Amino acid sequence: MPRKIIIDTDPGQDDAMAILLALASPELEVVGITAVAGNVPLALTQKNARMVCELAGRADIPVYAGADRPLKRELVTAEYVHGKTGLDGPVLPEPTMQLRDGHGADFIVDTIMAEPEGEVTLCPLAPLTNVAMALEKEPRIAGRLREIVLMGGGCFEGGNVTPAAEFNIYVDPEAADIVLRAGVPMTVVPLDVTHKTLTTASRVARFRDMGTRPGEAAAQMMEFFERFDEQKYGTDGGPLHDPNVIAYLLKPELYSGRQINVEIETSSELTMGMTVADWWGVTNRPKNALWVRDVDADGFFELLTERVGRL
Ligand code: BDR
Ligand code: CA
Repeated sequence: MPRKIIIDTDPGQDDAMAILLALASPELEVVGITAVAGNVPLALTQKNARMVCELAGRADIPVYAGADRPLKRELVTAEYVHGKTGLDGPVLPEPTMQLRDGHGADFIVDTIMAEPEGEVTLCPLAPLTNVAMALEKEPRIAGRLREIVLMGGGCFEGGNVTPAAEFNIYVDPEAADIVLRAGVPMTVVPLDVTHKTLTTASRVARFRDMGTRPGEAAAQMMEFFERFDEQKYGTDGGPLHDPNVIAYLLKPELYSGRQINVEIETSSELTMGMTVADWWGVTNRPKNALWVRDVDADGFFELLTERVGRL
């Protein structure tokens, strides 16, 4: 039986790669995709999510729009990384599949309440607004989820939008705080991991060499998205963040980490959105997450390449 997942996302080229990986993997059943405002405004992220489903030949996937802004703050976006559309790079056709009616947070609640307990895994790849709204609306979903596996935060690598904070957490720290405190089995895939999975020229070339539409689009997306980070970090390629969440579900043996306490800074302006990760266990605060720290980057790209090659 494939593992049921909901992807909560703000595509985003790396979100798109995560969606392609999930849709190409028979071990996973994507029961729905919920879009949220993040990298770019909601009107674009929900449309981009549908374009990526169609690129994968999966117009049947239900896609919902969720929150158009963080719980308590103004939206901060990242066009400087992802381009004006959020998915700059390839030229993809306008989607023909329709957005489903209803709010993404309601879809999350309804699905988790309808499916058997312990069945659904939630995969947030974006600011946690939709997930926090769902938890506030129906707290019983916390006890019914199998797991939340999210991309966000950083400890050893610091932040990427401020010295202390990673983008997904920084955009909606109050939502992240709600999610981390919810008591759901939690796995956090932070910058500590994603900064190790770099889109080097030779890795990207393998997608182009597939000679398929998804392969070419993947190469173009990665090439666009890495240009900013290559300059920033001085590396060959940029970090490919979000597909690590899906790869972790498919091949956890590629990853290692530790069960620790993680709390979110929501008051200090200087460190707003920081994930305060007690890696060394210097507090008595309860362990609430598996903090992933390491990845076999070649194994990750092997998996991603092999799967996108099936599309
Ligand atoms: C995260 O922020 C977004 O820009 C990416 O899609 C990823 O989810 C990395 O900090
Ligand atoms: Ca994202």
